[in-house]
Amino acid sequence: MDFLWLFILYVFFLVLCVSVFCFLSGRSSGRLHGVLHRAEQALSLVLPSWLQRGISSCFHTRSHAFVLLHLVLDTLVFAEYTGEVLHYILELELNWALVYLPYILITLNLYFFYKCCRTDPGRVTKQNESLCLGVYEYDEVMFFRSNKCPTCHLMKPARSKHCGVCGSCIQRFDHHCVWVNNCIGARNIRFFLLYLLSLTLTAASLAAVITVFLLQVVLLSHMMAAAYVDSGGHEEIASLVYVIQHLFLTFPRIVFLLGFLFILILFLGGYTCFLWYLAITNRTTNEWYKARRIPGAPKGYSRGILGNLKEIFQPYTGYKKKR
Ligand SMILES: *[C@@H]1O[C@H](CO)[C@@H](O)[C@H](O)[C@H]1NC(C)=O
Ligand SMILES: [Zn+2]
Ligand SMILES: [Zn+2]
Repeated sequence: MDFLWLFILYVFFLVLCVSVFCFLSGRSSGRLHGVLHRAEQALSLVLPSWLQRGISSCFHTRSHAFVLLHLVLDTLVFAEYTGEVLHYILELELNWALVYLPYILITLNLYFFYKCCRTDPGRVTKQNESLCLGVYEYDEVMFFRSNKCPTCHLMKPARSKHCGVCGSCIQRFDHHCVWVNNCIGARNIRFFLLYLLSLTLTAASLAAVITVFLLQVVLLSHMMAAAYVDSGGHEEIASLVYVIQHLFLTFPRIVFLLGFLFILILFLGGYTCFLWYLAITNRTTNEWYKARRIPGAPKGYSRGILGNLKEIFQPYTGYKKKR
């Protein structure tokens, strides 16, 4: 079955790409870092040096490469949706709210994306060093008093971490995200959470519309009840694989887009749930990673679900109270 192999290969390739990007963008974690470092070394033997420099500047210095890639992917997906799916759907007279929902969600998503990229994540500077130091208590398990950052020459506030890419200590450091070319910290984690949520919902709404469309095509054409004559001359009732294959041959790009969206939803949805879970338990990715290596779970900074969300969505009120 040629078609099935093609599709399996495509799905495999996609999963591979998505996992590589996930690993690369979360490269601050230690063991993975070792694996990646070795992979980089292995690649350095085969890749030309200009390409290596390019890759290294994408991941180790601030660069807009992933921001651009993100926007290009958005554009491709929506060009396909607008150019191919939309007019079929309008002919089928589906609920118009469903049809335009992806556009509303992507607009929201782009706004949060912009905010993530452009909002200062909470750099610790000379002016606000003492303010930052007063926000969180040191737990003496993950964060120790009287720790000076050797690069910034400032005291390290609890829950902060120095980001080598941004060249600064970041208050309530979460991680450095290459997709937004910025750190995620105290002042932009709220935009990042909303960005992830809106991106997952955008992908889900697109997938829903396309699925409804393909189902309508199957139902209207009575494809499931159709029979075909196989190469041996026997009459066969159309099976599900046959129907999928038929859809694929009729709308190849739409079916590929749907496959891409499903895999994206799987990975992105999982990651979104994970980060929201950390948010309501008041932990950062950095602390989650550190805690796994410390025997006996550290106490943490939780103040109850509402308190934790308030801390994330109103990052300034907490500062004033402690001052
Ligand atoms: C500290 O002040 C700088 C500007 O001097 C600002 O960009 C940064 O976000 C402030 N840090 C925090 C944690 O508010
Ligand atoms: Zn620093
Ligand atoms: Zn950074």
